[in-house]
Amino acid sequence: MALQARRGRFITFEGPEGCGKSTQVRLLRGRLEALGRPVTQTREPGATALGVAVRQLLLGTDQLQLVPETEAFLLSADRAQHVAEVIRPALAAGHVVLSDRHVDSMLAYQGYGGGMDLTSLTHLASIATGGLAPDLTVLIDLDPTISLARRHASSSAGGEINRFDRRALAFHHRVREGFLMLAAGEPDRFIVIDGALGVEEVAETIWSAVQPTLGGQYAGRTRTAAQLPLFDVTQFELCAIVS
Ligand code: TMP
Repeated sequence: MALQARRGRFITFEGPEGCGKSTQVRLLRGRLEALGRPVTQTREPGATALGVAVRQLLLGTDQLQLVPETEAFLLSADRAQHVAEVIRPALAAGHVVLSDRHVDSMLAYQGYGGGMDLTSLTHLASIATGGLAPDLTVLIDLDPTISLARRHASSSAGGEINRFDRRALAFHHRVREGFLMLAAGEPDRFIVIDGALGVEEVAETIWSAVQPTLGGQYAGRTRTAAQLPLFDVTQFELCAIVS
């Protein structure tokens, strides 16, 4: 008995600066790879050649005074290229795609934070993604006073401080509320985790949420059912088991 490759899985990580997303993406990647699952780790903005330029324009300088609409168009250009060049090919190859930020960041930052109309932003996002939506979104929630303090502490050690980090605390509170509203509106897609918990505890909670999402697909490889960890066999979609 062998497993037939199915489409990969798309998992996004969202939350404020300094919430620990990047650490958790790295930990999850390690865990998945240890199980033999192919992983594509990526981020927005900045995962393609165009994205690097967009990231520099958007975050690299304070000299440009960008209105939220301009930010949304730049981020959507990055996203369209990211989906076409990185995410869709990786999903087609059966990878688990882990993206540090995606559409929900635009809804939270440019929408709730910047005051842009959410319906227009959702339309813009669907043009950029062609309707692709994450299978699971991990929202690491953290009070902005803590997240910004962490961010500024890491900047003294050489970490990046961007134009959003420098915005007023009220902006960051709106972004946080926005993320929480988005999560409340789609409870099946989101898992919300308290970012004030320790790194290990957050990682365990994420792992518990990720396992059911993975199903049993082992893209790009063939394994016998006996070689799979128990959760893969029990949660495996029937149609993916072939003789
Ligand atoms: P990060 O890589 O440290 O998360 O920084 C990316 C910054 O860009 C962060 O401040 C959030 C912001 N951003 C938006 O405002 N809208 C978006 O759609 C995305 C993807 C990021």
